[in-house]
Amino acid sequence: GHRLPALARSHGIDLGVAVAVDPLDRDRRYRGLVEDHYTSVTAENTMKWEHVQPERGEYDWSGPDAVVDFAADNGLGVRGHTMLWHNQQPAWLAEGDWDAEELSAVVHEHVTTVMERYRGRIGAWDVINEPLEDGGPQMRRNLWYEVLGPDYIARTLYSAHAADPDAALYINEFGIESAGPKADALYDLVAGLVERGVPVHGVGFQSHFVHGNVPDDLAEQMRRYTDLGLEVAVSELDVRVDAPVTDEDLREQRQEYHDVLAACLEVEGCVNVTVWGVTDAHSWIPEWFPGTDAALPFDTAYRPKPALSGMVDALSRR
Ligand code: G3I
Repeated sequence: GHRLPALARSHGIDLGVAVAVDPLDRDRRYRGLVEDHYTSVTAENTMKWEHVQPERGEYDWSGPDAVVDFAADNGLGVRGHTMLWHNQQPAWLAEGDWDAEELSAVVHEHVTTVMERYRGRIGAWDVINEPLEDGGPQMRRNLWYEVLGPDYIARTLYSAHAADPDAALYINEFGIESAGPKADALYDLVAGLVERGVPVHGVGFQSHFVHGNVPDDLAEQMRRYTDLGLEVAVSELDVRVDAPVTDEDLREQRQEYHDVLAACLEVEGCVNVTVWGVTDAHSWIPEWFPGTDAALPFDTAYRPKPALSGMVDALSRR
């Protein structure tokens, strides 16, 4: 074992990692890294709609069950990810010709079926993922928005809350980790929901950062939500580096991981920091941002990087 889990627990936070079903199943070393270093898991893909309900009315629980069972076997928490997202939707859903009544029934049924199944075993759910446009403050014109209007968010949160009243319901977003129009727009959206008494309990700061450009006002942004009585999480942390990656880059990345952990610890109500993948060999980064790499705390040979010590350091301060 490693001291990270005990350190995280001593601060009352979870340190999480996004996992994929295949290596969890086949790769003993991958499993070992998760068991030894983290206290919660998020399914990187397998709880998304295209995987859970690939055909209308046909649910595939194999992936979600594997993740939830693995977590239970190892005493780990689970963040559920994710209900409504504009990506990774099955074709029947994305390409359907929906009217409001039917789509709203489909959403209610999906959310209810999934959340009831894992009631009591998934403590927090990213119910709404990326409701704002990539670069800007506008609400994303996704399927839900187009057919149901902006209130799709509140209505889905009500369905989720009815299905599992004990789960913490999150809105998860990126580009809100430092001050700006998108951060303000999400804040206004969430504050409006809280004001109306809609069951929203947390905000996930995805935190897909670029080396050299990690915001220094993350704690300040998080505190806006905890001041509303919500919890917050760093939900998808990685720090990508331009190739070729140097030792100096990795030393600086160590500090960046340290600072993100420290920001969470500074904020009463920051309950979880989750890194988005187990090793650099499993990261989404090289595929999606060619020419960048090395975004995670373990390298492609599963060796700990300076970033891991950065997290230990942050958690070792009282
Ligand atoms: O499922 C197919 C598989 O059948 C096929 O053999 C394989 C061949 O490439 O592709 C598989 O699909 C991949 C899928 O992950 C796995 O389910 C896609 O190519 C791949 O592009 C997809 O990427 C995921 C991405 O979301 C999709 O948008 C990443 O792994 C995942 O890390 C990423 O996660 C998102 C969060 O959910 C939300 N926030 C942003 C974050 C990064 O995009």
